[in-house]
Amino acid sequence: MYEDSVREEFTHQSRSFGNSAAMISAQTLGALIELVPEDGEADWIDVACGPGVISRAMASRVGSVNGVDLTPAMVEEAERRAGEEGIGNVSFALGDATALDLADASFDGAITRLSLHHIPAPARVVAEMGRVVRPGGWIVVSDLAADGDGEAAAWREEIERLRDPSHWACRTPQRLRRMGAAAGLVVEHEELARVDIDFDEWLARGSGGQAVAGLVARLLDEQPASAESFRVLDGEDGRRLQQDYWLCRWRRPG
Ligand SMILES: C[S@@+](CC[C@H](N)C(=O)[O-])C[C@H]1O[C@@H](n2cnc3c(N)ncnc32)[C@H](O)[C@@H]1O
Repeated sequence: MYEDSVREEFTHQSRSFGNSAAMISAQTLGALIELVPEDGEADWIDVACGPGVISRAMASRVGSVNGVDLTPAMVEEAERRAGEEGIGNVSFALGDATALDLADASFDGAITRLSLHHIPAPARVVAEMGRVVRPGGWIVVSDLAADGDGEAAAWREEIERLRDPSHWACRTPQRLRRMGAAAGLVVEHEELARVDIDFDEWLARGSGGQAVAGLVARLLDEQPASAESFRVLDGEDGRRLQQDYWLCRWRRPG
């Protein structure tokens, strides 16, 4: 099942993910946290929280954050890091983003980053986030955006899956937007951000590791001219990966 693949991959990445400069940069983290309204009374859920990067980064803006994740090693890591940093208003538990074991309308906001591309039928996650948020509350999502061009999208998925076998599929902004509409949510803010990160750090973090380096190198030689949302470029300090992140804040009508 895909869940086993997710647990295997993110047990492997449980330490490296939270240490990655790319995952805590202003481009990938800061821009998302700015979408969380500041309210010291608000209770938020961080869905597929991983090592709690988002939960910890937003803790000072809100009243509380409850993180849930499928991978036990990630929940342990999130608890460890929050304890080390002395952050008292965050807590973490095991949970499945596609079927949250939480009451309707029990949070003021729900947030998730980089989870939907690991999940089949991700509209289930957006619908669940909408369900557990109160009317008038916020649903904030950031995920990798796919190219609309079929050749570029398929080429990118081959590299992504070699690097991380739990990668399921990136979706286009149009499809991601429709997931919110289907859940009855209203777009309040939407943007597409081009993020620039160290390609070799990104490749090494996945469990594919050195075993797939040769295959990935072959694929890089075939980079389609139509590739937009995932491109590998030579930079002064080594290879750079440019990825488009789709960010959205929806509101549940209330
Ligand atoms: C790339 S990490 C992102 C972690 C975190 N959201 C962040 O951006 O810092 C993806 C996380 O999604 C979790 N995940 C994948 N599928 C899930 C599901 N169905 N329910 C809960 N967590 C899931 C994985 O265990 C992993 O920790």
